[in-house]
Amino acid sequence: MELQFKSSDSDRLEQKKEMMPKEKKAHKASMEDMEEKLELLMQKQIDHEFENARLYLAMAIWCQTNGYTETAKFFSGHALEERKHGMDFINSLIVMEMPVRQPITKEMKGDYENLEEVLVDAVDREVMTSIMIGKLHKCAIMQGSLLSRVTEEYIEEQYEEEQLFKSILNLFKLHKNKDSLASFESQIGQLTERTGKYMIGKLPDGLHV
Ligand SMILES: [Fe+2]
Ligand SMILES: [Fe+2]
Repeated sequence: MELQFKSSDSDRLEQKKEMMPKEKKAHKASMEDMEEKLELLMQKQIDHEFENARLYLAMAIWCQTNGYTETAKFFSGHALEERKHGMDFINSLIVMEMPVRQPITKEMKGDYENLEEVLVDAVDREVMTSIMIGKLHKCAIMQGSLLSRVTEEYIEEQYEEEQLFKSILNLFKLHKNKDSLASFESQIGQLTERTGKYMIGKLPDGLHV
């Protein structure tokens, strides 16, 4: 994501000039509150993206150790994507000269009853991510922050991801009913092979078991 910002808020500046001192003070305080809120939401989003990465890696490990090797590749590839999202937000804060700290992540769930539970949890997580990015985008717009250009782009990407995860769950349900998980695995495999980006299932050079 290339970050290019242009300042063009002359209308807002004109409005500010016309304000009475008391109003001006209140306006300044509320702008500072909004700025703090935006910083907080950005940092929360960064933590969340890195937690997504941890969660999908945990899911990949569960899938790999339970025989769903193609689904494992999908999740380990998506863990990389989530890390990239987190990094994009970190870089945006750096470019904007806003405060940024290292991400804080908690241990994520790694034990599942079955593959369906993994996929349902993953959809829930994507839905949660969409809600969070929606709030962040709204806050960036209200503050008139140039960060809204980044969040707007990311909203579209997030919508696509949520739809992708939902369609994978639907595909699973279709195959579960037909008792043909091998076919589900093969279709997930085709999806992952197109990108070639995954960590699990790639052995280090010289290691053959
Ligand atoms: Fe993400
Ligand atoms: Fe995602």
